[in-house]
Amino acid sequence: MRAIRIAKPGGPQGLKLVDLPEPVPSAGQVLVKVAAVGVNFIDTYRRSGVYKVDFPHVPGTEGAGTVAALGEGVTGPEIGQKVAWADSVTGSYAEFALVEASRLLPVPPSVPLEVAAAVPLQGMTADYLIRSTYPVKAGEFVLLYAAAGGVGQLATQMALMAGAEVIATVGRAAKAASVIALGVPPDRVIDLGALTEVTEDLPPLVKALSGGPGAHVAYDGIGRDTFQATLASLRPRGMAVLYGGASGQVPPFDPQELNAHGSLYLTRPKLGDYTATAAELRQRGERVFGEIAAGQLKVSIGHEYRLASADQAHAALESGSTQGKAILIP
Ligand SMILES: NC(=O)c1ccc[n+]([C@@H]2O[C@H](COP(=O)([O-])OP(=O)(O)OC[C@H]3O[C@@H](n4cnc5c(N)ncnc54)[C@H](OP(=O)(O)O)[C@@H]3O)[C@@H](O)[C@H]2O)c1
Repeated sequence: MRAIRIAKPGGPQGLKLVDLPEPVPSAGQVLVKVAAVGVNFIDTYRRSGVYKVDFPHVPGTEGAGTVAALGEGVTGPEIGQKVAWADSVTGSYAEFALVEASRLLPVPPSVPLEVAAAVPLQGMTADYLIRSTYPVKAGEFVLLYAAAGGVGQLATQMALMAGAEVIATVGRAAKAASVIALGVPPDRVIDLGALTEVTEDLPPLVKALSGGPGAHVAYDGIGRDTFQATLASLRPRGMAVLYGGASGQVPPFDPQELNAHGSLYLTRPKLGDYTATAAELRQRGERVFGEIAAGQLKVSIGHEYRLASADQAHAALESGSTQGKAILIP
């Protein structure tokens, strides 16, 4: 089968198309024929060595496809059934991948597999951030960075569904339209690219838009470049949810800063801890897929690449130029 493999940590040019043996499912595993691969920031962290993995490495944790073969003892899904996953045993950047049967999510018949590939990682991340880490309530001011991005567009819709007052950021003016189309008022979409100094200039804007005190919660997946602005944009006892580092990881900091900004809370959550049990995984997956099938949640596939062009997908994601979801088609 064709797959993408990386020999050693480095840049996107290290993502090479190779021929590998088709994997064979062990007990409890399912072989899936991959229809669409979800490209995620974590794939770039692993490729570059920010997160440690063994090399050679076949990247990719997320995808959607059809069940091709069952390992010993697996009785659940039927051959040919549409499924999606967020944590494949072998890499998802391939024509076939292995997934633990207990970690598969059924895909509703009406949801195309290209759309389904966006749900397991980014959809369930948006779901746990907005509904579990800090359950957003109607009328609360929510600061959401990179709102035109993959997690961003889904989290924005979920916060709006909850009745929140969303203050969204984009990195360049051209991205604002996709956020406004989701229902965020134009005067609440802040172009960070137009600010002279994000740390200095963003907090007063957020405070003004929230009527003075600042946001109740801030969801920050940008990290290094925005973290100080996040702390300064919150009201006393507000919650900073640092869930990624698209601009780089936040350096060590003094907890007294939480005190100085008004008894703030800080959490650094990850999806694995919010889908640790098969029951919670299933519940989140069913909820997000259900909302998509019902037309309540829209998935925007912004960028589609051939498997062989995985390097272009990584370069685009890391340049900050993408909007919505990026997928690979094997
Ligand atoms: N903790 C978890 O469970 C979890 C799960 C999934 C994803 N994540 C994290 O969530 C974040 C978003 O992931 P995603 O897959 O949805 O990506 P994405 O938001 O589609 O893309 C990242 C966005 O970050 C913004 N950005 C700002 N500075 C950047 C820089 N220096 N380089 C690149 N991008 C920059 C850009 O948007 P603007 O130009 O609009 O600012 C860019 O489009 C990432 O940090 C990822 O690691 C965390």
